[in-house]
Amino acid sequence: MEKRPCSSSLAVKTSHVLPPDTNYHGTLFGGILMAHIDDVAAIAAVRHCRKAVVTASTDSVDFLEPVKQGNSICVEAFVTWTRNTSMEVFVKAVAEDLLTGDRKVAATAFLTFVAVDENLRPVPVPEVYPESESEKYLHEGAALRAERRSERRNYSKEFAAKFGTVYPWNM
Ligand SMILES: CC(C)(COP(=O)(O)OP(=O)(O)OC[C@H]1O[C@@H](n2cnc3c(N)ncnc32)[C@H](O)[C@@H]1OP(=O)(O)O)[C@@H](O)C(=O)NCCC(=O)NCCS
Repeated sequence: MEKRPCSSSLAVKTSHVLPPDTNYHGTLFGGILMAHIDDVAAIAAVRHCRKAVVTASTDSVDFLEPVKQGNSICVEAFVTWTRNTSMEVFVKAVAEDLLTGDRKVAATAFLTFVAVDENLRPVPVPEVYPESESEKYLHEGAALRAERRSERRNYSKEFAAKFGTVYPWNM
């Protein structure tokens, strides 16, 4: 498979922050922002590999700034790194006061997507290569992040086995 640049997967979505998406503080619900993040990141992953994908994991999302009703929220995502069947996607969410032009980074996150076939089994993806300085920076740190995710996944599996599917928990 031919290698593809990070930039070819770039996906961007800008939305108005409207009342149904806000809480009683008049700011964007965290869950709505996470849905935007997953949506745009998935588009970037599919753009990279041109295959169906599933979200394998989302690294911690830190909500750095409240996003006020009436602001816009712009979510940008691109593939930073690939292994065999998985792709790391970096996402940045920027809130903008449309009347003043004031912008703030509201959140950043890394998500991992896995390309799958019609039976939802993992399939290989093309390699990605960085071009810009920021792409190189993200690409270089990715192997270490993937290692940490792998450890976290094993830990999550241990937890799942420990607690089981029924209540009361079978500890
Ligand atoms: C993600 C999934 C396809 C992995 O399948 P699997 O049979 O466990 O496959 P593997 O263990 O061989 O992992 C396949 C790849 O996914 C990566 N991966 C799996 N779980 C991961 C996780 N939690 N975080 C990061 N990467 C993960 C592996 O590192 C591997 O990457 P590589 O091929 O690039 O080396 C499977 O766990 C799944 O379907 N999960 C549910 C996905 C889902 O429903 N998402 C939400 C809705 S889209």
